[in-house]
Amino acid sequence: MKSNDNTILITGGGSGIGQALAHRLHDAGNHVIIAGRRFDVLSRAAEGRSRMTPIQVDLDNATSVEVFARRLIIDHPTLNVLINNAGIMRFEALGHRRDLADAEATVTTNLLGPIRLTNALVDHLLKQPNASIVNVTSGLAFVPLVVAPTYNASKAAIHSYTVSMREALKGKIDVIEVIPPQVKTGLTPGQEGREGVPLDDFADDVFMQLCSEPSIPEIMVQYSQYARRAEADGRFDEVFAVINGG
Ligand SMILES: NC(=O)c1ccc[n+]([C@@H]2O[C@H](COP(=O)([O-])OP(=O)(O)OC[C@H]3O[C@@H](n4cnc5c(N)ncnc54)[C@H](OP(=O)(O)O)[C@@H]3O)[C@@H](O)[C@H]2O)c1
Repeated sequence: MKSNDNTILITGGGSGIGQALAHRLHDAGNHVIIAGRRFDVLSRAAEGRSRMTPIQVDLDNATSVEVFARRLIIDHPTLNVLINNAGIMRFEALGHRRDLADAEATVTTNLLGPIRLTNALVDHLLKQPNASIVNVTSGLAFVPLVVAPTYNASKAAIHSYTVSMREALKGKIDVIEVIPPQVKTGLTPGQEGREGVPLDDFADDVFMQLCSEPSIPEIMVQYSQYARRAEADGRFDEVFAVINGG
C-alpha cells in the first residue's frame, strides 16, 4: 500500500500492535481511525495527534458493526484502508468437557469480527483508489499452540479467508496478511514480560513492509517465517515441539 495520504481504519488500534502501527502510519502522514471497546484507551492512544480519530465499537455485535461501518463511511468518505487487527487470545484445556464461552468468544471476535466488518466496508473500498485490506493472523495459524486451540483455529481460518479474498478482489483491492510471531503486548496476561519480539521492533519492521509498493501479500518477521514455512520445509513436527515446549 502507499505510505501516506490514506484514510486508515485500524481495529484494536488503542493498544499493542494496533496502536504501534497506528502511530507509525499517523507519523507518515495518514489519517488514522482507531476503533475498540475501551474509549479511554483509544483516547490516550490518539492524544496530541490531530489526524487520529478514536471511535468506540464492539466488533462482537453484528448490528454494532453495521451501524459503525455506515457512520464511518459518512464521516470519513475517503476511507481506503481497513486493518482488521482486533483480536483476543484465551487459553483452553481440551482434555475434558468444558464451558465453551472462551471458544465461542474467540470465534466471534477473531473470525466473525473481520468477516462482518470487511463485508460492511467492501463496497465502499471498491470505489476508492489505492484500497487495501490488511488481516492480522498469527504464526499459530500454521503451527498450533495446544493450550490455545480455538485461537489457533480462528487465525488459520482467517488466513484461509484472506487467500480467497485476495483472489476475489485481485486488481481492485490489495489484500495483505500480517503474520506476527509472539510479540510483547498485553494480548494475554503477563505476555509483556514473557519471551517475544519487542513491540517497537516488530512494528518498525511491519510498517516498512506494509508501505512497500507493490504490496507484499504476506508480511512476516524472521520468527513468524519459522512457523509459516514449517510444513512446506518439512519442519512441522520440530516447530510444533518447540512451540509446545516438547
Ligand atoms: N502479541 C502477539 O504475540 C500476537 C501474535 C500473533 C498475532 N497477534 C494478533 O495481533 C492482534 C493484536 O493483538 P495485540 O497483541 O496487539 O494485543 P492487544 O493489545 O490485546 O490488542 C487487541 C486489541 O483488540 C481490541 N479488541 C478485542 N476485542 C474487541 C472487540 N470485541 N471489539 C473491538 N475491539 C476489540 C482490544 O481493544 P478493547 O479491549 O478496548 O476492545 C485491543 O486493543 C490480534 O489479532 C492478535 O491475535 C498478536
